[in-house]
Amino acid sequence: MADLSKMGAGAEPGSIESRSRQAFSRGRSVFPDGTTRVTVERDPIPRYIDHGEGAYLIDVDGRRFLDLNSNFTTLIHGHAFPPVVEAVTRQIQSGACFANPTELEIELAELLRGRIPRIDKIRFVSTGTEAVMFAIKAARAFTGRSAIAKFEGAYHGAYDWVEVSQAAGPQNWGAAERPSSVAYYHGMPQAVLDETLVLPFNDAATTAKRVEENASSLAAIIVDPMPSRAGLLWPKAEFLEALHNVCRANDILIIADEVLNLRQGFSGASPRYGLEPDVLAIGKIIGGGLPIGAVGGRADVMAVFDAGAGRPLVPQGGTFSANPISIAAGLAAMRALDKKAFDRLEALGDRLRERLNAAISKHDASFCVTGAASLLRIHPKSVPPETYRQACLSPGESEIMAALARHFTGNGILFPRDAASCLSTPMNRADIDFVADVFEAFLAAGELPQTVVQ
Ligand SMILES: Cc1ncc(COP(=O)(O)O)c(C=O)c1O
Repeated sequence: MADLSKMGAGAEPGSIESRSRQAFSRGRSVFPDGTTRVTVERDPIPRYIDHGEGAYLIDVDGRRFLDLNSNFTTLIHGHAFPPVVEAVTRQIQSGACFANPTELEIELAELLRGRIPRIDKIRFVSTGTEAVMFAIKAARAFTGRSAIAKFEGAYHGAYDWVEVSQAAGPQNWGAAERPSSVAYYHGMPQAVLDETLVLPFNDAATTAKRVEENASSLAAIIVDPMPSRAGLLWPKAEFLEALHNVCRANDILIIADEVLNLRQGFSGASPRYGLEPDVLAIGKIIGGGLPIGAVGGRADVMAVFDAGAGRPLVPQGGTFSANPISIAAGLAAMRALDKKAFDRLEALGDRLRERLNAAISKHDASFCVTGAASLLRIHPKSVPPETYRQACLSPGESEIMAALARHFTGNGILFPRDAASCLSTPMNRADIDFVADVFEAFLAAGELPQTVVQ
């Protein structure tokens, strides 16, 4: 529950006396840009964290914030969730990692298979990136084809093929009916670009046409049912239907990337939207806040990992795969997430989206909200975007989001500017109303740049 007396007190990171500023100048001497993740927000410098408590974070200058980031949606129970702390403490006292399997990993695998449709078999890895990578390798081995298709603007981690067009913009994204394959980093091999077909999310006709044209080389299409970095876009039913039809007709596998969206419900996100994947990549919440990923799916596809009869088609190892600390933390977190917990989170999410929308209507502001369950994004646009191109921000809109994020932090809320906001189980109605009130105060202040007030 918010201790409002402490919210927002203390030095801001940019101020000369702040400890964040001191930490950042030390960080800059050892890290290329002062940090070790490109995703760390900085305005103008990063905020260094001292500790977390439930739904709250306390920075090194003693300022307290309601955390809507939760390490990029991972911490569904917030910070230092007691069952996770206990499970990790117990496990580390019996050993951090072994070259042998543990019974714990079977328990977590059984729990996940019991909840998530279309997972017959599963393998654990250490990150969502690895889960995506092995899902793609499995599809290649199973189909004997090497190319993949992905949706423009969708984020799937740091494996080269899925990085293609992750940050495409108007200057290089090409025609809407034939999106270009755009390099994400300087020096990305042309071979990767040539083997990655980029599709427009929610455009059924173009997706079907482009896949048909390239069908013989495609192993799989990777799709996040609600791509978050691309705008947390609601998937259209006819789009998913077209995707199924073209994949089934051409023996192309569907990989659902639910690394983030698994938190939409007890059984994840795919069933909610009628998506029927052959393989799934999952992560984040299943590790209780520790590093984890998993690839699961149809038994015949997952058989590519089977080393029972010698070298498998896809050898998958990993020093830290299924490490018992992550598995123990994940079990504690997932056991606490029963259907009731998901329903409660969803009700809080619905309330927050309703209150934000009511404030937007009241002030006749050019904002909108997308998302579902415990996830949401605020866009500086009057109509909810349906595609990555519609969700992309102009320089003026980026300024508006920067101003909004500053307003939120100034009032004690950490609000991810370019990513999905999320709720966690320690939050309550008062926290939700607090976020809505702070947003409404931003609209009421009426200091929006001209591009917003239309
Ligand atoms: C949809 C999606 N896929 C994959 C990943 C990569 O996961 P990780 O950061 O654990 O490698 C992320 C991370 O944010 C994600 O949101």
